[in-house]
Amino acid sequence: MDIRFSADRPQDADVLVIPVGEGGADAGALGIAQGAMVAGAAKSARFEGKAGQSFSTFAEEDGSAVRVLLVGTGKDGFDKAGGAISAQLLTSGAKHASLKADGLSAEQAAEIAYGAKLRSWRIDTYRTQLKDHEKPSLNALTLVGAPDGTEDRWTRLDAIAEGVAFTRELVSEPANIIYPESFVERARAKMEPLGVTLRVLDEPEMEKLGMNALLGVSMGSEKPGRLLALEYMGGKDGEKPIVFVGKGVTFDTGGISLKAPQGMEDMKWDMGGAGAVAGAMTAIAGRKAKANVIGICGLVENMPDGKAQRPGDVVTSMSGQTIEVINTDAEGRLVLCDALHWAQETYDPEYIVDLATLTGAMLISLGHEQAGLFSNDDGLADKLTAAGKTSGDPLWRLPLGKAYDKLLDSPIADMKNVGPRSAGSITAAQFLQRFIHDGVKWAHLDIAGMAWADKDSATAAKGATGFGVRLLDRLIADNFEG
Ligand code: BES
Ligand code: MN
Ligand code: ZN
Repeated sequence: MDIRFSADRPQDADVLVIPVGEGGADAGALGIAQGAMVAGAAKSARFEGKAGQSFSTFAEEDGSAVRVLLVGTGKDGFDKAGGAISAQLLTSGAKHASLKADGLSAEQAAEIAYGAKLRSWRIDTYRTQLKDHEKPSLNALTLVGAPDGTEDRWTRLDAIAEGVAFTRELVSEPANIIYPESFVERARAKMEPLGVTLRVLDEPEMEKLGMNALLGVSMGSEKPGRLLALEYMGGKDGEKPIVFVGKGVTFDTGGISLKAPQGMEDMKWDMGGAGAVAGAMTAIAGRKAKANVIGICGLVENMPDGKAQRPGDVVTSMSGQTIEVINTDAEGRLVLCDALHWAQETYDPEYIVDLATLTGAMLISLGHEQAGLFSNDDGLADKLTAAGKTSGDPLWRLPLGKAYDKLLDSPIADMKNVGPRSAGSITAAQFLQRFIHDGVKWAHLDIAGMAWADKDSATAAKGATGFGVRLLDRLIADNFEG
């Protein structure tokens, strides 16, 4: 959807959108001839201007009917109000919406456009039989009378929305389309034009480096694995980069510890961590952030096969630590441990944050409301928690500790890759912490419950959410730029 700016209402606009704050519509403030009637109708339909609420009607203007949509902004829900525009109008037949943006601040006006763009995303690539009335009709939103500064703010939010859209695309694509090599090529096409440098390791290169934990997962697949680094150096020369690392299991069958068939198709989104990292890098580079940021994606497919690794196999990770692979379905941590080690060796970061759809246990503890946060540093945990609140990608911190760590001790190797059933998300985090170097501030985000949604939200239709993009962008914007 195209976002435009204008001083006057465009001639061809076929719907008039009016933002309304908490308390409901005020007849005089609607700016239309029949304001009193529309405000009364909205009130009787229980429209109170709550964030994301909407009321649709028609009013008369110069002898003809004009379609009117009131959207609630609540106290500070301008993105949600924007989301309501797309939710209500995207396939409504309306083509061009005109938003009454005078009376808003630049920030508020831009947030409405942002929400509208976020909520308008959908993937129709494989729908060949859509009826005309099912196809999106709305292709433009014009902000009329927005104050100075709105366009600048929009440029920034537009880049972030692009990042969210890229993550949703990667996460939504099926695993026969997005696998390690094709993930890299999509990332290249998207990010090279933004000034991001790609560094790609193939399997022989990873073998030389001793990444046997990651490669062990990849062994059962016909699709070769990749380690992808996205380098964006928008900050000061010589300043240590912030490093993001994402789990990119492009499909997780469980391997020889095969998953049950019911719902296995969901495991196409087991690359949601890597998808979030790629989207965040798109956002950060797209808005020309003044920071040095590296995004690393550990990309493999976890398949059962004659060549696949077996339960009980012992692998030596790049760090030299050995791992007894008790369960080949606990593969994310095997991918991440080598990616994390390589990231620290290669980029010497002070801060490292990994994102992964790591454990089903995360859905049991936090459901689909917040992602789990684990960290060895209170300062970083606080920064992330704060970014989670302001970005709308919320996090809840869970504990780490020696007693949990001990649950990973193995009778034959340095550690096993799974602990007991209880505290499954915590022991997974403990496993990763064993690969964090002394002095590095690290956080792990288990986004298993957040990468995909079975129901619509204010700014996303059901499906891939793009969780993590706005969070990581905020983390950088609020703490690491200038
Ligand atoms: N990708 C899964 C975790 C997952 C499950 C994410 C459901 C989203 C929804 C992960 O690789 C996995 O299989 N984890 C196992 C670990 C267990 C074997 C210790 C799990 O959670 O069951
Ligand atoms: Mn698994
Ligand atoms: Zn997995």
